[in-house]
Formats: sequence, C-alpha cells, structure tokens
Amino acid sequence: MDNKRYGHFDDQHREYVITDPQTPWPWINYLGNEDFFSLISNTAGGYSFYKDAKFRRLTRYRYNGVPMDNGGRYFYINDGGTVWNPGWKPCKTPLDSYECRHGMNYTRITGSKNGVEASVLFFVPLHTWAEVQKLTLTNNSNEVKRLKLFSFAEWCLWNAATDMENFQRNFSTGEVEIEDSIIYHKTEYRERRNHYAFYGVNVPIQGYDTDRETFVGLYNEFANPDAVIEGRPRNSHAHGWSPIASHYIEVELQPGESRDYIFLLGYVENKQEEKFIAPQVINKTQAVAMMARFDSSEKVDAAFAELCDYWDNLLNIYTANTGNEKLDRMVNVWNQYQCMVTFCMSRSASFFESGIGRGMGFRDSNQDLVGFVHLIPERARERIIDIASTQFPDGGCYHQYQPLTKRGNNDIGGGFNDDPCWLIFGTVAYIKETGDFSILDEMVPFDNQPGTEVTLFEHLRVSFNHVVNNLGPHSLPLIGRADWNDCLNLNCFSWDPNESFQTTENKTEGSQAESLMIAGLFVVTGKDYVELCKILPDHIKAMQNLKDIDFAAEADRAQRHVDEMVDAVKTHGWDGEWYLRAYDFYGNKIGSDECEEGKIFIESQGWCTMAGIGLEEGLVERSLDSVKERLECEHGIVLNNPAFTTYHVEMGEISSYPEGYKENAGIFCHNNPWVIIGETVAARGDDAWNHYKKILPSYVEEDRQTLHKVEPYVNCQMVAGKDAYRPGEGKNSWLTGTAAWMWYTVSEFILGIKPHYDGLLIDPCLPKTAHDYTVTRRFRGAEYEIHVSNPNGVSKGVAKMTVDGMPVEGAVVPAQPGKHIVEVVMG
Ligand code: BGC
Ligand code: NOJ
Repeated sequence: MDNKRYGHFDDQHREYVITDPQTPWPWINYLGNEDFFSLISNTAGGYSFYKDAKFRRLTRYRYNGVPMDNGGRYFYINDGGTVWNPGWKPCKTPLDSYECRHGMNYTRITGSKNGVEASVLFFVPLHTWAEVQKLTLTNNSNEVKRLKLFSFAEWCLWNAATDMENFQRNFSTGEVEIEDSIIYHKTEYRERRNHYAFYGVNVPIQGYDTDRETFVGLYNEFANPDAVIEGRPRNSHAHGWSPIASHYIEVELQPGESRDYIFLLGYVENKQEEKFIAPQVINKTQAVAMMARFDSSEKVDAAFAELCDYWDNLLNIYTANTGNEKLDRMVNVWNQYQCMVTFCMSRSASFFESGIGRGMGFRDSNQDLVGFVHLIPERARERIIDIASTQFPDGGCYHQYQPLTKRGNNDIGGGFNDDPCWLIFGTVAYIKETGDFSILDEMVPFDNQPGTEVTLFEHLRVSFNHVVNNLGPHSLPLIGRADWNDCLNLNCFSWDPNESFQTTENKTEGSQAESLMIAGLFVVTGKDYVELCKILPDHIKAMQNLKDIDFAAEADRAQRHVDEMVDAVKTHGWDGEWYLRAYDFYGNKIGSDECEEGKIFIESQGWCTMAGIGLEEGLVERSLDSVKERLECEHGIVLNNPAFTTYHVEMGEISSYPEGYKENAGIFCHNNPWVIIGETVAARGDDAWNHYKKILPSYVEEDRQTLHKVEPYVNCQMVAGKDAYRPGEGKNSWLTGTAAWMWYTVSEFILGIKPHYDGLLIDPCLPKTAHDYTVTRRFRGAEYEIHVSNPNGVSKGVAKMTVDGMPVEGAVVPAQPGKHIVEVVMG
C-alpha cells in the first residue's frame, strides 16, 4: 500500500498541518460557526455563504470541475513575470515551500517562491458577517522586491441553484460598485434584495477588476488570467455576465521587510428605507464600518485571539487524558470540532454536499445535538425549538427544513417514520446536560402555524405516539418512506429513472413494511420518555403549562407500549442468530438467513442491542457475534451482507448502489457506533474498543492517507466496504451523523461519563488492558476532575467511587456547584 503522508497533527496548536498541496482529494476546513460561513480547501478553494448555502451564496464555486476544486479566494503574486499563489493553486507554479494549517475555524496557508513568503490567515471573527484574510508578505531575499499583487473572488448571484442554470437571466443582472478600496456586489439589490456583499482591503489600491472575462480572458483559466500575467489591471466594471472582485496592489519590500494586507469579504443587510443614498447608489455605511473594525493588524490579531480563546474555552469543557495520544487528540479536539461543524451545517455544504440539495435534516439535526449540547447548550435549545416547530400535529415530521426560513421543506415532505423518535432523543440529551426542564414547558407550534402552539412536552408525546399509532401486522413500526436508512425504500417500487427514491411511494396502500431499526430506536427513546415522565413531577412546580398532566399514568401507558415492542421484537424480529432488519411490502423478511442477499443488516443489530432487547436470553451477544462474523472487516463494520448484486425493486435505492458503497454494504461510519454502544451494553469492552479504533480518524491517519483519500482529521460518512473495488477508500467527509455518534460513544460509553438528570453517571466500558485515565468535565457550571483506575483489568463495573474523598453509593456524581475530585475504581 502507498503510505505517502500529506500532513500531520500538531496537537499543541490543535491544527492539522498539510505539507503537500497535492492531497489525494481537497482537504477542507470550515470558517465561521454562527451566521457567516466559509469552506476552505488546503489550496484556498471553496466559497462563502450567509446562513443558507443555497439561498444566500456569496461566492461562486464549481462542483466536480476539471481540475478539481476550481474557484476560491486567490492571491496572485507577479514577481518579475513569475506568477504564483501562496496555496499553489490555481497557477500551480512549483513553490519553494508550502504549508496549510487547518485549525479551529481558521486556516493559515503559507507559500514561498524566489525569496518571497506569502502567508494568509483566513478566519471569520466571532459575531461578524465577514471572512478576514490577513496576507503577510515577507521579503527573505537580499534584494528589493517589487511585486504585483492581485486578489480574486467571483460573486455568486445569491441563489446557488439558479446561479448554475438560469443564464438567460443571470448574464444580464450582475451589478457592482467600486468605491475606494472596496468592491461591492449589488446584483438584484435594486429590487427585492436588501443585502449586498463586498470585498475590500485596508490599503489604497492601484487598480481593480470586476468583470470576469476582462480579467481572466474568455479562453483562459484561473491559472493564467490576462490581467495577472500581463501585470496590468483593466479597471473593468461588470454589467451583467459574471461579476468578480479583484484588487490590484503594487508592493515594494526591502530585504527582510514584511507587510500585512487585510482583506475582508463581507455581507451586509440594510433596512428597506435605508437601502440607497442616491438613485442607484447603495448605502455603504455598514460595510465601511465593518472594514474599520479590521483595518489594522492589531485589530485583526485581537479578533483572532478572541476566536482562539473561544475555542480554548469550548474545548476545556471535556478533556481526556488517557495516555493514548491518538485517542486524546480525537476526543479533545477533532471529534468535538466536527460536531460543531455538523451542528452548523447539518448535511448542506461540503465538498460532497453541494449546499443546494438539502437543508437541515429533522433526524440529522436531532442526532447532531448529542455531540454539541455540552459545548453551547443555549444554541442546542434554540435548535430543538426550531426543529419541533416543523412537526405535524400527528407527530409526523418534515424530513428537512431550510435554515434561512426555518420552514419545513415541501419538496421532500415527510413520511420517514423514524423521524419523530429523534426529537425525544435530542431533547433528552439537552435536559440531561443542562438540567433545564423548562424547555418542556415552551409553547411550540406545529408546522410553524401560529395558533397551533402546544408544549414541547406535547411534541414529545405525539412523537412517541406516532410510532404507537403506526404499527404493522407484527406489531412492529411501519417504516413509511424509509427509516434511518434513506435507501431502504420499501414502499417505492420504482422502475422510472426520473423518479427520486427519496420522495417516491408508488405503493403504500396495504403495505406490511415494518422496521426493526425503528423498533429498537423506539425502545431506547421510549425508555427515555418513560424515565422523563417519572422524574417530571419533581420539576413542574416552576412551570406554567405542564401542571395538569398525570405523569405517572403517562409513564405507565408508555411503559406498556415499550414492553409490547420488546415482545414484538423477540417474537417476530429475531432470526435465530441476529435481529431481522424489516418486513417488506408483502410481509416478507428482510435481513434474514432465508434471504439470498442482504441476510444481515447493521441497523437492527445496533439498535436492538443498544435497547438491550433479549439481553437475558443472550440475544444481544449472539447478535454482536454475528456482526463480527459477517459484517466486520479491516476498515470497520459494513452495513449489510451479502451485498446486493442486482436491483430489487421492492427494496429501492439500497440495491441501486454497486456492492460495497454507501447503503449497499459500505462501511457507513454513522452506524458503527450503534454496535459499539451495543458492545458496551453487553460489557464487552475489548470488542467495543476494536470497532471504535477502526474508524477513528487518528488511527487511519497514521498509515492510510492515500487509500483513505479524504481528510484524515475527521470522520467521513462512508468508507468503501469489503465488497467494493477499493476497500478502505473514504468518501463524503465532514457532514455526517458519525461525528455526534463517535462523540456520544467515546465520551459516555467508553470513557463512561454520562450526563444524567441528577448528575454525572460514571459507567466506563474499557478494554481490559486500559490504562488509568482522567477526564475533566465542566457540567452545569461546576467542574469535575474524574480519575478512573482499573487495577483488576475489568471491562465494566464501578467497584468504588469517592467524591472529594467521601464515598458515594452508586455511580452518580451529584450535580453540585464548585470543583470536585472524583476517584473511580473499576472492579
Ligand atoms: C444517500 C443517502 C442520503 C440520501 C438523501 C441517498 O442517495 O445514499 O445517504 O441520505 O440520498 O440525500
Ligand atoms: C445520510 C442522511 O443524512 C441520514 O439522515 C441517513 O440516515 C443516512 N444517510 C443513511 O441513509
């Protein structure tokens, strides 16, 4: 195997350092985590948007282009006719040195050529609608350097979808203004838009361009724009066609001299009545004010220090010191960072998600919460309310909603019958972390319709009931359009390639299609719901709207349904060596030894073992053993086996993928943690750790960068499975539920620090050879330093625990203010 390395971790700075620009695939980072976002690759490719990658795209990007990763924020340096970029692309002039450091919401790219070093720090300052680019040019040579510097960004005409298709309109709408050193993009501002974008620099410029064809040349590429190659800006004004922003700056550097240039790519909204200062002249006050906030190196450095402090603070909430640097760097830095990114982006914008396809997923966003809630609980709270507001009165859900409008997305609609359960999952995680029961008292509408408000608790109740009210012939949950596996489309029956598997239901009437995955999910979240109902009477005194509910009766009712589901799984959902996956439209088994292909699936093994269904009878261990025998491989656990080799119309999209990819026997990293948690339910710490390690990026990073292909510092959604052409190759990095699930698994089930209603429940599950370790955990304003030792080499079980030297009964560290030392002895 080719073991070439393209970079390494710098743990001290929490950075991944890329040392070769020609990575096997663009390795990207995310800037911004509130309203303004940028994607940036290791060669400065990517784009920016405000809140919504589809509706408010600021700069243009070309997907799947040749060459790959075309378009970004480029600095061209013309040094006596040699033209180069600090990030190597787009000119690809060989550099004397190159380095890209991806850090926590910032990226620094440094290149040098012929004695000149150019280093660019990219970040979105906190609470700011702009990307800062601080370019430092240094003359390391012995002669005076006279450089011609060109910046470059290409505007997107706001809607990233129509920007790529509606050229009969687009080519006539583009408008810009130029004033001082700022280029303004104001397409459509004259009519319904009250926003514009701008690209400015903090020094006087000697020229500019705003028309792409004039700057680049119609038959040229970004690699050789006419203006740059000739070293002469055209001072062009875009009228229609493709507006861009390029500044031209003449630089003179004495030997040893270094100078900073601060560029700002920003976004502004104006009130309707304040849009213009004169006919056709836009109100620039806010842009100019924003420029002033970042017009010196000192100001930029202060904003950058603020961002770094912000991340120090977030990442100090949970830190593990296990003595295993590969584990620590994922737990303490990269896994949590990826959770922030998935919380912000859901599945919308990456180098695999175009930002025009999907909004925020109902199930995705709920799951993302378990990786995020400990970081910024207030934002998790707001998110829960937003998600619940898109629900329907019967508990059903829009599968997605748009971040800008927060409205359910009609194109995809609903009918994914696992969706409601995830609201319970996300909300419970929030309450356990914060102790904030008041969220259940909040009045939340259905489908965003004013006048329909009920309590959030009622939303949980209808979520629970949605499963209960939609049971099939075996008393198992009807699957609807699909469950977690979007591609197991049991009511679809499509022979038409123009139909979307995601939205087509050609056959529903009389369907017997039931899901064991939802059954397990329902038992897990149903138990949570019961527990919540039991504990709520202690917390409702302060509440307005929940006083009259008989929670004890509700807990009993819910428990009965959970028990019935457990029985139904044992009776109709056990195949002999593993849990079945589903029943199809006709009531035939899916995921059974009787099937020729797809005999066993991971989802039901994961959820039914997590739910502990049949633990006493040994079903959990049998199922987990079957996973090891049939689904596990070198790179992780595949989704199903044997892979489907032909199209099965009664199963839909799953059988449309070639063997070993995606939902057809790919290693869907997202669901590996379910099995890992299942292993911890069975107290099999060694197995849990082995499965976990296989998909832990830092282990992959060590020796498989070329094969893995995508970023080795975050999880990807899918790694090609054992049946694929190139097993171990990763795809779809960054935006995946894997991030939250990896975090949940390691923090709560392996290292075993579980937020609970009354405090922190300590319940590790370790490989028998595990070292002693320490976790520091901030929790509800207090700080806990937890030392775990394992003198007898067990996997599970807390033999003894003290808090501040005092023995405690059981394994819950009570939530209480202050600083506490917890000693845990396993045994
Ligand atoms: C993919 C799924 C994805 C779905 C929705 C399918 O093609 O395989 O992973 O969730 O599309 O976009
Ligand atoms: C990706 C989707 O975002 C997620 O919701 C789904 O569960 C998985 N694919 C599996 O199909």
